[in-house]
Amino acid sequence: MRVLVSGGAGYIGSHTVLKLIASGHDVVVVDDFSNSKPTVVGRLESLSGTHVPVHSFDLTDVDKTERLFAHEQIDAVVHFAGLKAVGESVTKPIEYYRNNIDSTLSLLAAMQRHGVHRLVFSSSATVYGENAPVPYSEDYEHLSSSSPYGQTKVMIERIMTDVAAASDGLRVALLRYFNPVGAHPSGQIGEDPQGIPNNLMPFIAQVAVGRREKLTVFGDDYPTADGTCERDYLHVEDLAAGHVAALEHLDDMVTPVRAFNLGTGTGTSVLAMLKAFERAVGRELPYEVGPRRAGDLAAFWADPSRANDELGWRAVKTIDDMCADTWRWQSANPQGFPDA
Ligand code: UD1
Repeated sequence: MRVLVSGGAGYIGSHTVLKLIASGHDVVVVDDFSNSKPTVVGRLESLSGTHVPVHSFDLTDVDKTERLFAHEQIDAVVHFAGLKAVGESVTKPIEYYRNNIDSTLSLLAAMQRHGVHRLVFSSSATVYGENAPVPYSEDYEHLSSSSPYGQTKVMIERIMTDVAAASDGLRVALLRYFNPVGAHPSGQIGEDPQGIPNNLMPFIAQVAVGRREKLTVFGDDYPTADGTCERDYLHVEDLAAGHVAALEHLDDMVTPVRAFNLGTGTGTSVLAMLKAFERAVGRELPYEVGPRRAGDLAAFWADPSRANDELGWRAVKTIDDMCADTWRWQSANPQGFPDA
């Protein structure tokens, strides 16, 4: 298939581009580079040995999106592009709703006009909200999210479901990710957050490489084994493979729109993750315990059985793989991707 990857220069998008190419697909990237560096593309080309065509614009631009579909032959879309910082979304809700919703509508309209009916969407476990029973199952119906960012994921899942119901043949896989971490085993591409990292793994990696003084553990009085929050961390390589599996399964899905959890099914605590990273680096890393972060849930993980059974997909990489690969990337690229 010839696959349009929106946000293909980003963290998960770039790993998925490589997996798609390795699986024999052709890839076209659209990215506005608002939260990624153009130098990612050269690395994708050298790792894959393939030219990766890139269109650089913001998908909220309806005319440019239309022109892209008019000029490129596209069989399927994997849609990653969007703003994704939870805290920032609380202070800039208009920007988040406008960007994430408008870009999706513009993409869906162009797909409809040009008869493209295969879509894989980058959703999130955040859609399970605060009250879903753990492990999270796709059968849970009361989707909600406490942040505008998360709410855009809930809304986009709904929009895609409505558009598919009104369309003749649109097939959509909604992939609900748990906590993606790790990097490509080459150490050439990985997560490169701009500014202070919001998420645990890039923060630990920046402490290890000397860019941050110490990790602050957000609370150690949760009702968990060691008192710190537990999450379902999965390797970005497994996650990327999940996109290829979903794409190739679209035509055989039991319903035109289907949600799949992509996770390992196991929770790991903040302190256990820190210890695992220390093993990868070979030394202790400084940390302190601080107050809880607003909005954090004590513990959640995936029930990944639907993806296991229907997509034939399973996360295979261990926590130690995730830490070793993150460290290879971070130590080789202490400041992330170069500007040019
Ligand atoms: C966060 C978002 C979630 C989003 C996901 C993917 C929140 C509340 N949730 O999930 O909506 O889909 O990222 O990007 O922001 N931690 C520390 N110290 C740190 C950073 C994190 O102790 O410096 C802890 C957190 O309290 C949490 C765990 O590490 O218990 C994982 O945090 P994080 O990586 O931000 O992921 P989530 O909170 O699960």
